[in-house]
Amino acid sequence: MTRMGSLPIVNVDRLRSDDWAGLMGVSALEREAFPDDAQTAPNIALMARAGEVWVARHPDDGIVGEAIVIGRAGEARAFLFSLAVTRSWRRRGVGFMLMHAIIESLAARGVKSLELTVDPENQPALGLYLSKLGCENVEFLADHFGPGRHRQLLRKNLGSRETE
Ligand SMILES: CC(C)(COP(=O)(O)OP(=O)(O)OC[C@H]1O[C@@H](n2cnc3c(N)ncnc32)[C@H](O)[C@@H]1OP(=O)(O)O)[C@@H](O)C(=O)NCCC(=O)NCCS
Repeated sequence: MTRMGSLPIVNVDRLRSDDWAGLMGVSALEREAFPDDAQTAPNIALMARAGEVWVARHPDDGIVGEAIVIGRAGEARAFLFSLAVTRSWRRRGVGFMLMHAIIESLAARGVKSLELTVDPENQPALGLYLSKLGCENVEFLADHFGPGRHRQLLRKNLGSRETE
């Protein structure tokens, strides 16, 4: 569990694959953030088993942020499959809090790098990954999500823990 000084009542933790209310909360957030590509609750249950689903919870507002990571302890590389913060909670440090917890946890378990792709025009996400978390640009993936839907591949080296 992670608590940050600026957000004492938002807790970040891993979601269990049998936490059905939590799975529904994550899928609702997926639908809000990614209307065309949202993960369903059953898919999220599988990801919680095959990988890791992280949630930021508020006592009154419920799940206000979620992140899905593929990759496990002992593997060299993990992949960030999804990251979203509910609209009313954006720009309050929740995205950073989730990523910080994930990076610390993976690094502590010996994972060497975390990779992810992002829409090259997604300024909030690019700000978080590049400026705040120190990710490096790896490769431009033209049409990766279909014609005209380009992605930028980024990597965070987990050897250096420059997440603040
Ligand atoms: C991207 C996202 C997860 C960021 O979450 P957040 O909780 O709002 O981010 P934080 O408050 O932790 O901000 C961390 C840093 O990200 C950057 N950032 C966040 N929102 C930003 C914005 N609207 N414009 C520019 N930079 C922004 C800033 O560098 C910020 O640091 P600062 O506040 O010290 O300037 C959120 O905007 C979101 O859910 N977007 C929709 C889904 C999405 O695009 N997910 C990413 C898929 S790759």
